[in-house]
Amino acid sequence: MPVERAFGPAVPTDRPLQAVEIHRPSTLGVVDTDLKDVRGTPIGVSCKTCHGSPSQELTRGAPKDFHRGLKITHGQLSCTACHDQDRSRLHLADGQKLDFDQVIHLCAQCHGTQYRDYSRGAHGGMSGYWDLRRGGRERNSCVDCHSPHRPAYEKMWPVHPPKDRFLDWKETHEQP
Ligand code: HEC
Ligand code: HEC
Ligand code: HEC
Ligand code: HEC
Repeated sequence: MPVERAFGPAVPTDRPLQAVEIHRPSTLGVVDTDLKDVRGTPIGVSCKTCHGSPSQELTRGAPKDFHRGLKITHGQLSCTACHDQDRSRLHLADGQKLDFDQVIHLCAQCHGTQYRDYSRGAHGGMSGYWDLRRGGRERNSCVDCHSPHRPAYEKMWPVHPPKDRFLDWKETHEQP
C-alpha cells in the first residue's frame, strides 16, 4: 500500500520574492552602559556625545580617560584600521566611509573567504523561509556573533569526554 501524504497548496511560480534582511544589532555604534530607562531598555551613549565636534576634538567635559585602555585582540590592527576620524562612522582601506550598520563590508574587505561563504549561506546562519516566494529571510550581521575587538571564538571541546570507570573511581566509591 503506498503511504498517504498531504501536501500544502503549491506556491505560484510568479509570486514575487520576499526580501532578505540583515539583522542590525541594537547596540551597534553606541557605548553600552549598565543603566536602563523607565521601560527597562538598556541605555547606550552615542559616540557623538564625546566625539561630536567637527574639529575632532573631544566635547568639553568628556571624561579624558574613557575607553583609552581598550585592548583589542584582532591581528595587529590599530583602531583606525576600522574607525574613521568621524568616530560615529567606520571606513574602508580606501577611505570610503561606512555607517555602523554596513559593518559587513568592513569585515568583507579582509575576510573575503568567509564573506563569500556568508553570501552563499554557508557561514553565519539565517532564519525565515528557504523559498523566498513564501516569505522573507533574516541573516545575522558578522558582529551578531563576532565581537570586532575580539572576534575569535574560544577553542573548546565539543562534548564532555567519556567517563573513565577506573580514573573516576573515587566518585563512585567511598574512601576506606
Ligand atoms: C564618554 C565619552 C566618550 C564616548 C561616548 C566615546 N568616546 Fe571614544 N574616546 C573618548 C576619549 C576620552 C578618547 C581618548 C582621547 C582621544 O583620542 O581623542 C577616545 C578615543 C577614541 C578612539 C581613538 C583611540 C586611540 O587610541 O586612538 C576611537 C577609535 C574612539 N574613541 C571610538 C569611539 C566610538 C566608535 C564611540 C561610540 C561607539 C566612542 N568612541 C564613544 C571618549 C569617548
Ligand atoms: C576590526 C575593526 C575594528 C577595530 C580594529 C577596532 N574597532 Fe572599535 N568597533 C568596531 C565595530 C564594527 C564596532 C561596532 C560594534 C558594536 O557596537 O557592536 C566597534 C565599537 C567600538 C566602540 C563602542 C562599543 C564598545 O565596545 O564600547 C568603541 C568605544 C570602540 N569601538 C573603540 C575602539 C578603539 C579605541 C579601538 C582601538 C584600540 C578599536 N575600537 C578598534 C570595529 C573595530
Ligand atoms: C583591515 C583588515 C581586517 C578587518 C577590517 C577585519 N579583520 Fe578580522 N582579522 C584580520 C587579521 C589580520 C586577523 C588575524 C589573523 C590571524 O591572526 O591569523 C583577523 C582575525 C579575525 C578572526 C579570527 C580568526 C581566527 O580564528 O583566528 C575573526 C573571527 C575575524 N577576524 C572576524 C572579523 C570581523 C567579524 C570583522 C568585521 C567587524 C573583521 N574581522 C574585520 C583582519 C581584519
Ligand atoms: C551565526 C554566527 C556567525 C556569524 C553571523 C558569522 N560568523 Fe564567522 N564564525 C562563526 C563561528 C561559529 C566560527 C568558527 C569558530 C571556530 O571554529 O573556532 C566562525 C569563524 C570565522 C572566522 C575564522 C576562520 C574560520 O573559518 O574558522 C572568520 C574570519 C569569520 N568567522 C568571519 C566572519 C565574517 C566576515 C562574518 C560576516 C560576513 C561572519 N564571520 C559571520 C560564527 C559566525
